[in-house]
Amino acid sequence: MNILILGSGGREHALAWKIAASPLTTKLYCAPGNAGIAQEAECVALDIADHQAVIAFCKDAKIDFVVVGPEVPLVAGIVDDLEAAGIKTFGPTKWAARLEGSKGFTKDLCKANNIPTAAYERFKSGDLAKDYVRKRGAPIVVKADGLAAGKGVVVAATVEEAEAAIDMMFSGGLGDKAWEIVIEDCLVGEEASFFALCDGDTALPLASAQDHKRVFDGDKGPNTGGMGAYTPAPIMTEAMNKRVMDEIVIPTVQALKKAGAPFKGVLFAGLMITKDGPQLIEYNVRFGDPETQVIMLRMMSDLLPALIAARDGQLKHFDLRWYPDAALTVVMAAKGYPGSYKKGTVINGLDQAAQLDGVEIFHAGTRSDNGSIVANGGRVLNVCARGKTVAEAQARAYAAVDKIDWQDGFCRRDIGWQAIAREQNRR
Ligand code: AMP
Ligand code: GLY
Repeated sequence: MNILILGSGGREHALAWKIAASPLTTKLYCAPGNAGIAQEAECVALDIADHQAVIAFCKDAKIDFVVVGPEVPLVAGIVDDLEAAGIKTFGPTKWAARLEGSKGFTKDLCKANNIPTAAYERFKSGDLAKDYVRKRGAPIVVKADGLAAGKGVVVAATVEEAEAAIDMMFSGGLGDKAWEIVIEDCLVGEEASFFALCDGDTALPLASAQDHKRVFDGDKGPNTGGMGAYTPAPIMTEAMNKRVMDEIVIPTVQALKKAGAPFKGVLFAGLMITKDGPQLIEYNVRFGDPETQVIMLRMMSDLLPALIAARDGQLKHFDLRWYPDAALTVVMAAKGYPGSYKKGTVINGLDQAAQLDGVEIFHAGTRSDNGSIVANGGRVLNVCARGKTVAEAQARAYAAVDKIDWQDGFCRRDIGWQAIAREQNRR
């Protein structure tokens, strides 16, 4: 089969690495891709926001199956457009992608189906939102309704902070003016991510993971797109995975089926594991980045037939096999990230690093420049490793980081600390 992956990050490199290894793959393309993806696939300089250009390429290159990485094209309806043109595509329709595209939509769906999530209200006016915040008290969480590239959530410790967040969102502080916000109670517990493939009716659990969103060691500093991750999340025991499937994922898939807009693709549940059990923080309708990089390392089975089965409504009898190991990734970012940073700085030592036992390096913001790999974004590399424990995976990943010679890059030194502390307590 001829396969096209859409996207250019570490997530897409991991998907390309896995799909390139499938015996079903004849030719793999990625648009627009990056320097690492170019080792697995032919990169095509397409603007993936231009759906007609993507369709034209698919027809030209006789693409049999498209895998969409990021949320923006999903929420913009690229799956609907490709499918309407007769091109089989992995991912949810525009309607179903509202699970990520509108927080209010998801909260209402949860309420109507008794899916555990924080108590909330939706607001279109700052004054009413502030009245609610004053009545409810702090801490409290203020969220823009639509996509905000990870910047649309403020966990406010005080009422004043919440009021400032409301003003910021309604006055265009996130770029576009928010036209609706959600205010919800603050949940207390440990966060985890959970991934399931869905075919509109059946949901097949993939794996759990945890990521580190803050830029500095000790989970300090501003939020980022993610500085590292590991899988599985030790807090996600078999029993907890089952509760998440029964109480959150399956009711969601069934609710969307009943509404006549079945969800096909990967459902990524952001969870808070509270003392009363799992609560949904939010849904994403795509693979996580950097969680996918580590989940792919643990997947023994061929990914491609599972993605096709999700698209075709055939997951019911599907099974996936996994390595029992843990996997961990350390993100290397350009100095200054998540603020301003330099592009074009040279990275050496990648081949030596990738030769270490259990190590795999996935590229995010990189490009080739006269035979060198240069940084081309904020988050630049995912240095990943498998190990028998999270501690072993961590040691291997940092051994690889230390072989990489990139003066203008940095990484956190404590990825996995929470899981490793749990492993040590168990001994
Ligand atoms: P989101 O963009 O919805 O994933 O939110 C970003 C982060 O905000 C989450 O990963 C949580 O750390 C935090 N957060 C969001 N909603 C809540 C909540 N109701 N209670 C506590 N923390 C939250
Ligand atoms: N790692 C979080 C995300 O992909 O949104």
